[in-house]
Amino acid sequence: MSSNSLDIQRLFNLEGKVALVTGGSRGIGYMISQGLLQAGARVYISARKAAACEAAAEELRQYGECIALPADVATPEGRQALCEVLADAEPRLHILVNNAGAAWGETYEAYPESAFDKLMSVNVTAVFALTRALTPLLEAAAAPDDDPARVINIGSMDGLHIPTVTGVGTYAYTASKAAVHHLTRHLAVELGPRQITVNAVAPGFFPSKMTDHLFDVRLREIEQNSLLGRVGKDEEMAGIAIYLCSRAGAYTHGTVIPVDGGTSINPRHVRVTNG
Ligand SMILES: NC(=O)c1ccc[n+]([C@@H]2O[C@H](COP(=O)([O-])OP(=O)(O)OC[C@H]3O[C@@H](n4cnc5c(N)ncnc54)[C@H](OP(=O)(O)O)[C@@H]3O)[C@@H](O)[C@H]2O)c1
Repeated sequence: MSSNSLDIQRLFNLEGKVALVTGGSRGIGYMISQGLLQAGARVYISARKAAACEAAAEELRQYGECIALPADVATPEGRQALCEVLADAEPRLHILVNNAGAAWGETYEAYPESAFDKLMSVNVTAVFALTRALTPLLEAAAAPDDDPARVINIGSMDGLHIPTVTGVGTYAYTASKAAVHHLTRHLAVELGPRQITVNAVAPGFFPSKMTDHLFDVRLREIEQNSLLGRVGKDEEMAGIAIYLCSRAGAYTHGTVIPVDGGTSINPRHVRVTNG
């Protein structure tokens, strides 16, 4: 161990790096985009609604260089268009954050089979297809033995445990998030030797459009289920992303990192029955 003190600024600095954050127009993707921008990266954000995507990029430009690339990552055409525009603009991609996602809640009896197709296409297929399509740009950015390119997949604590407060079944969602975690490990085996790290973040409850309704009716139970007694903060999602994308996280590979205040390991969950 060297006796030199650590250069903390260098350890977490993302200056000169280029990132793509899918679903960056709001919620967790916005939190991550802000963090990457403030650490110095140039950030492309993507989402289906073009006006909202551009408005978010405009707002995020107060922190650094942010560009909106509206696209639907759940379709092959949308992914192809996104990759083509990005490749025209950038010869290298240092960071890919596969964050875009959707949820579906319904009772066991009424849960539509179609929810599985819809959620798997955006939550899982898009993660694989976009990562594979962008692998040449990620390889071009990777610095062997020093600073690999990074892929972060946003899973969920609901892929680690069965949620207890939703009040309805989220069968396709939990299955899709468990799939994201295992896909992360599989991609890590493929891409590690190419100097691209692949990790998943499994968030607990963070404020977003996806959780707005549940926070309105179940905030007390949600907070009780966290061992820290609260929901996540924007800076805590930004922080894990900065760590994974910076030199500090260069040797972290093939992991699934819960950022949930201990909710997924809490042995005494408050349970809200279905219906
Ligand atoms: N918030 C939480 O507590 C929580 C907890 C665990 C995991 N997560 C995960 O975190 C991720 C973000 O969730 P969030 O809570 O921030 O949800 P959110 O507020 O609903 O944001 C979802 C984002 O993804 C975009 N998106 C959705 N479908 C898309 C598609 N087909 N193509 C491109 N973009 C698409 C949305 O924009 P458009 O609608 O314009 O496309 C939006 O930018 C998801 O993967 C979610 O499962 C969230």
